[in-house]
Formats: sequence, C-alpha cells, structure tokens
Amino acid sequence: MHILITCPFGLSSLLAKEIKKLTAKSDTSFSIETTASTFLILQGDWQLVYQLNLWSRIANKVYLLLWKAEITTFNQLFDFMVSLARNDYLPPSALLSLQVMTKHSQLFSERTLQSVAHKAILTALSTEKTALNTPVPIDIFLSLEDNQLNVWLNTSGASLHQRGRRKQTGPAPLKENLAAAMLLFSGWKFKAPLRDPFCGSGTIVIEAALLAKNLAPGLQRTFAFQSLKTFDSNLRNHLVQQAQQSVFSHPYQLMGSDINADVLVYAKQNAERANVAELITREQSDFSSASLKNLASDHSLTPRILTNPPYGKRIATGEELLPLYQKLSTAFQSYAGGVISAYPSIDTLFPASAFSHKSRYNGAEKVDFYYKKPLHS
Ligand SMILES: C[S@@+](CC[C@H](N)C(=O)[O-])C[C@H]1O[C@@H](n2cnc3c(N)ncnc32)[C@H](O)[C@@H]1O
Repeated sequence: MHILITCPFGLSSLLAKEIKKLTAKSDTSFSIETTASTFLILQGDWQLVYQLNLWSRIANKVYLLLWKAEITTFNQLFDFMVSLARNDYLPPSALLSLQVMTKHSQLFSERTLQSVAHKAILTALSTEKTALNTPVPIDIFLSLEDNQLNVWLNTSGASLHQRGRRKQTGPAPLKENLAAAMLLFSGWKFKAPLRDPFCGSGTIVIEAALLAKNLAPGLQRTFAFQSLKTFDSNLRNHLVQQAQQSVFSHPYQLMGSDINADVLVYAKQNAERANVAELITREQSDFSSASLKNLASDHSLTPRILTNPPYGKRIATGEELLPLYQKLSTAFQSYAGGVISAYPSIDTLFPASAFSHKSRYNGAEKVDFYYKKPLHS
C-alpha cells in the first residue's frame, strides 16, 4: 500500500527518523519512496497506518492511496470515481470533503474536477444509503499530475497535531508538532531539567512530558480510519494496549512559567487532560524581573530553556520586547535549549557562532528556531 504522510514545512527528515524509530520497535516494515519538504510517500501496510496515527508527534495527516489511473476526460473521471466509491472502503453515509490539485494535465479546472468527482461518489454511495446511517466525515485528496490521477484517503481525520484533548489556549499558541520538533532538534535528554518561561497554555512542557513518558500522542483521540468499512478493531485495540504498556515513569523536572495567570490555568487543565500534570510545575512570573540564577538548577545535566516568547505580531510590539529578548539571549550563557519566534531582530541576538538556526512554519506564520547544543550532558 502507498501511504502519504504530510507534515509542517521542513520537518520531513525528522518525520522519516521518527518512522524508522517507531518501526524498529515493532515488526512493521516500510520503505520510503518519495521525500519532499512537506510530505513523505511510503510503502507500508494497515498496521503502519494505525501506528503512524497513534504515535507520530511530527505528522499532520496520514493518507492512503485508494486508487490511481490515467484520466483525460470528465466522463472517465466520473466512471472511475463511481467504481472507486463502490469499493470496500467508504461507508455509505460518507459526508464528503474533496480537495483537488492538478498540474500539467488535460483536465485543469480544479473546481470542475471537484464537482464531477463529488457527484460520482455521492451517486455511487446513494444506492447503499439507509435512513439509519449516521453521517461519517470522509476526506479525499485527488492529485492529477501529467494526467495520472491519484486518489488519497485521509485516515487521520483532524490534523494529528490536535492530540485529542480539547485545548484552551492563549492568543498565540504553538502547534504541538512544532513543539515536538523543537524538543527533538534540541537534543534534550529527558532527565535534564527543562523550563519554558513563556509557557502560555503549556504546549512545549506538555509535549516534553509526553515524549519523556513515551506516551503515544494519539492515545486520547479517534481517527478517520475507525469509520472505514475495513476498520480492524482488534488491531487497533492491540496497538493501543501496547502503547499503554510502554509508558515510562520517572520524576522528570519540567517547569512552565508565564506572566499571565489565566493562561497558567489553561496550562494546568491541558496538562491534566494529557495525563502529565504530575510532571509539570507552574509559576506565575515576569521574565523581565526573574533571577536567571533561580532559573538554573544544580543538576548534573545542563538545564534547558525551550521557549516561544511573545514576538510582536499578535501580542506585543517589537520595541517593547527587545529587553526581554536581550535577557533571554543572556540566559543561554548558562542554559542549553532554544527559542522559537517570529521576532524580527532575533538573528542579531542569537548569532550563528553560538546557535543553530532553522526556519519553520507555525500554521501559515514563518518562525525562526535558534537552538544551542549543550556543552556537556
Ligand atoms: C507566544 S505566547 C506562548 C504560547 C505558548 N507556546 C502556547 O503554545 O500556548 C507568549 C507568552 O509569553 C507570555 N509573556 C509575555 N510577556 C511575558 C513576560 N514578561 N514574562 C513572562 N511571560 C510573558 C504571554 O502571556 C504569552 O503566554
């Protein structure tokens, strides 16, 4: 089976590493066929599809190739989509969402392609419908390139960065998969104390706790594949049980602080929903007046700051923030870790001589990640 896994821009190599690690622990085999900056295409099986959905900290969505064919007319497309919809996958009560992308092909109107495909699928499924069926959201992605149509089915449903706990956030939350990527890029050793002094709703410390505990990020949510006719509940239950048995416990030292008491309440609730509240301490604190010494600890491993400070687009202006960033850059004389931000002058404060740099996207917003490797630990 062909599997397409999407991820935030620039994270596909980290995703490939994650998949290798995940499959090394189980008897699942896979091979990577295509690598691009926002996706990977793999050969794998249903078990891999279930595992990726349950375990990936980096992916956005996992798609399965339903069918491929050469298409040059709308009639061909209609007939093809009718027979596809009558296969073993789609439930009769599908509530369809169709995305289309076309390139270098005779059929170039994405809007017409979408409406023909939509009509064909609904026509095919209507013969199977009964009044008792509850609507099931089904998300299909059609890609037509050089007249080759690939029909991809979204097996995840909502993006996997949504870990399944309804999350209360502040005004500028970080996506969970980007927070997980920061933690992995920074080389954080789980036993080293970690602090986020601008923690907001707690995304970074919660992702850190999930990672340290080896808690599968998808344990608390459902996936679109559970609504397919082919759903194997025994396989899913087995993988869930395995995930529950592989949780580690250790008194990790994770701390989130923020100036805003309201977001700290969200951080607490979010950590509780994620079952990691016992690992995270919270404190209301203004970083401008916090003692940098207090932030450090006399631990044998270099403590980390990993943080996403305010950056002037959504929550404050650039000039107001300069002293805060200057102080943060000073903090990295005694700390390892890094900063993710869209603050415009950040490059001057985190020079290439001491920091590695990557640009990534938090949704549509370009953000820079500067991180320092620890000297020891
Ligand atoms: C970009 S948001 C962090 C969002 C967080 N990563 C999340 O996913 O929810 C920046 C946070 O910095 C906090 N903040 C602003 N000024 C601060 C200061 N002087 N000291 C500590 N926190 C501050 C804000 O309250 C806000 O929660």
